[in-house]
Amino acid sequence: MKNIDFPVEEFHKILAPRPTVVVTSKDDNGNINAAPFSFVMPVSLDPPLIAISSSPNHDTVKNIEKTEGFTLSIATESIINEVWEMAKEVPSDENELEMAGLSEEPGKSINLPIIEEAIANFECGAVSIEKTGDQKLIIAEIFDISLRSDMIKEGILDVEKAKPLLHINDDIFVIGDHLRKVNE
Ligand SMILES: Cc1cc2nc3c(=O)[nH]c(=O)nc-3n(C[C@H](O)[C@H](O)[C@H](O)COP(=O)(O)O)c2cc1C
Repeated sequence: MKNIDFPVEEFHKILAPRPTVVVTSKDDNGNINAAPFSFVMPVSLDPPLIAISSSPNHDTVKNIEKTEGFTLSIATESIINEVWEMAKEVPSDENELEMAGLSEEPGKSINLPIIEEAIANFECGAVSIEKTGDQKLIIAEIFDISLRSDMIKEGILDVEKAKPLLHINDDIFVIGDHLRKVNE
């Protein structure tokens, strides 16, 4: 098989699939906003820090610049249609959680809703937001995690039950539904 050249600005289509999350934030008038993100990675364990890269035009990053707090919900196959619905561009005062038909529950650490249908919700606070190339990189501390008790097995995510939604590009996903252990 021969190798081909691939456009470097499309590397994210190859560095895939990536976990999909829903970031819920609010503007300074208290309007709730939610959108899916897959440019997401852990960056520190102590303190627990997570990084999200966002287009500077998104309401999500504009809100977090003003109000700092957000919740990050792990997306799974069961909410694939809702995730796609929330990616649509709508006026900034429209609540995408309501639009997608997802249920809000009060968070514990910050004054923002968590998503009832998500298997796990992280409550976070931004510690820095930097322009990085054509994106903005949000680094945030995780204050609290609520996880559905049936989604953990032997201390790790039970992927066979959870079926995490892994993003490739646009509306194309992989469902991460089985484990493979190294045979030594
Ligand atoms: C699965 C999925 C993952 C996405 N990941 C990102 C991402 O990591 N960064 C980004 O800027 N936009 C991403 N998007 C696009 C935003 O979700 C979309 O533009 C959304 O309308 C932004 O909403 P907001 O303006 O309310 O923040 C993704 C879309 C989908 C469907």
